[in-house]
Amino acid sequence: MRFQLRAAGVLGLLAGATRAIQVDFSSDGMVTQHLSKSKTNSKPESIKSTASTIAFGLLKYYTGNNTGDVPGNLPDPYFWWEAGAMFGTMVDYWFLTGDETYNAVTMQALLHQVGDDRDFMPQNQTRTEGNDDQGFWAMAAMSAAENKFPDPPADQPQWLALAQAVFNEYVERWDTATCGGGLRWQIFTFNNGFNYKNSISNGCFFNVAARLARFTGNQTYADWAEKVYDWMSDTGLITSDFKVFDGAGVEKGCQDIDQAQWTYNAGIFLHGSAVMYNFTGGNATWKQRTQGLLDQTSSFHFENGIMVEKPCEDGGFCDIDQQSFKAYLLRWLAGTTQMADFTFDTIMPLLKSTADAAAKQCTGSPSAAEFKGKPGTACGFQWTKSPQFDNLVGVGEQQSALAAVMYNLVQKTTQSGKAPVTADTGGTSQGNVNAGASMQDKTPNRLEPITTTQKVAAGFVTTAIALSVMGGCFFMIK
Ligand SMILES: *[C@@H]1O[C@H](CO)[C@@H](O)[C@H](O)[C@H]1NC(C)=O
Ligand SMILES: *[C@@H]1O[C@H](CO)[C@@H](O)[C@H](O)[C@H]1NC(C)=O
Ligand SMILES: *[C@@H]1O[C@H](CO)[C@@H](O)[C@H](O)[C@H]1NC(C)=O
Ligand SMILES: *[C@@H]1O[C@H](CO)[C@@H](O)[C@H](O)[C@H]1NC(C)=O
Ligand SMILES: *[C@@H]1O[C@H](CO)[C@@H](O)[C@H](O)[C@H]1NC(C)=O
Repeated sequence: MRFQLRAAGVLGLLAGATRAIQVDFSSDGMVTQHLSKSKTNSKPESIKSTASTIAFGLLKYYTGNNTGDVPGNLPDPYFWWEAGAMFGTMVDYWFLTGDETYNAVTMQALLHQVGDDRDFMPQNQTRTEGNDDQGFWAMAAMSAAENKFPDPPADQPQWLALAQAVFNEYVERWDTATCGGGLRWQIFTFNNGFNYKNSISNGCFFNVAARLARFTGNQTYADWAEKVYDWMSDTGLITSDFKVFDGAGVEKGCQDIDQAQWTYNAGIFLHGSAVMYNFTGGNATWKQRTQGLLDQTSSFHFENGIMVEKPCEDGGFCDIDQQSFKAYLLRWLAGTTQMADFTFDTIMPLLKSTADAAAKQCTGSPSAAEFKGKPGTACGFQWTKSPQFDNLVGVGEQQSALAAVMYNLVQKTTQSGKAPVTADTGGTSQGNVNAGASMQDKTPNRLEPITTTQKVAAGFVTTAIALSVMGGCFFMIK
């Protein structure tokens, strides 16, 4: 993941000054009516059709399936990790709606980016890749295994083995030399951010480990999940009242915590904790953690029942990456209901009110350069301002709105029975406990030297961390 400064507000205003046809989701009897009116999702077809419209607009951003383009990449300005995250969303989209339209591009994208070592470290990305970047691809593969997304042909890497490869590499990168443990943000020493231990990288490790434990039944994965959680807690990155902060620098032994609270950091630990609760057959400690993270999430990351990206949304300075984070908290909230039934009645109303607000933002008709979906269906970002369209459009906004709508299709597992599987309950994906490669085989000398331009780009990181710390403090004071 990168940090770049973006004058989101200004660009947005310039970009979307005109609006043409508007689709009113409420009068069309789509999301709004059914979500607010019905006790349960009595009209899943209307939710599916809204999701389908939004997904169409989302995938129009994807060019990796065009002749001469690289499968799995999104065009500029979207970074590689976000493509992995988006295809993770598309795995869930198929699972929830049954719409197979995008399965072929999703499979092609995920497999094209596995790299020579079958671990989501393709040569083109490795040099600038962070643990979190790799993690979002790994979690997409894990979702494919759990959702019984079609298995790749036998001569191709398999979903479960891909997640195991990334897990094995995380184990090797676990760094006890500083801060008593934890994963660093960056994989390689020469990247800015190597000296930062962040919650999302450790969250990826935790989440993948918990899910591998549940899927395979192998206790080693659960032990690692426990270890990551304990480290987060000991370091103060997860507080006693379950705030999840952004990260901390190793130079000061992780004492200088960046206290910004992003939606996806809360979500990734919430979902992983629910998976551990499920894996342990209802352990009280994991139940308490799940409940605590949920309580903190529902009070902090929502305003009047509508999800909001607190550190940057009101100020209008969320960057390209941050504009997609709400999609992942939505994903993990829905996933939590599937793993820990006791959360269902708290989470579903939040998903409904958020979907209602998000769908009302899907009325934009920006220029074709900005949006190639159906006019009047581009989704904005600031759902708390709905129905006023805020002119912010892009992969993050569109993906988040899709997530908001489609995750309303999750059902109580006790009633529908269509929950993420394990190897014992119908999972078919083949694993390999030894998948992945050693860091020795990934030394930078196997990679091209960094160019000056890339060094300059990486310099943004330092600024962004400083700003991010300021953002956190600003928020605390406020
Ligand atoms: C690529 O996939 C998108 C989304 O499914 C589709 O709209 C487009 O036609 C595809 N392009 C090609 C060249 O197949
Ligand atoms: C790596 O990038 C080059 C240049 O964009 C592209 O031609 C090539 O197909 C990419 N390789 C893979 C495996 O994606
Ligand atoms: C674990 O998840 C499965 C699938 O959703 C569910 O059937 C089971 O009841 C859950 N176990 C616990 C302890 O909640
Ligand atoms: C529940 O999980 C916690 C954390 O892993 C562990 O310390 C505790 O012993 C477990 N409780 C039971 C009853 O197994
Ligand atoms: C469990 O996972 C660990 C860590 O990858 C591995 O070393 C071990 O062989 C696995 N055990 C079984 C029974 O698969």
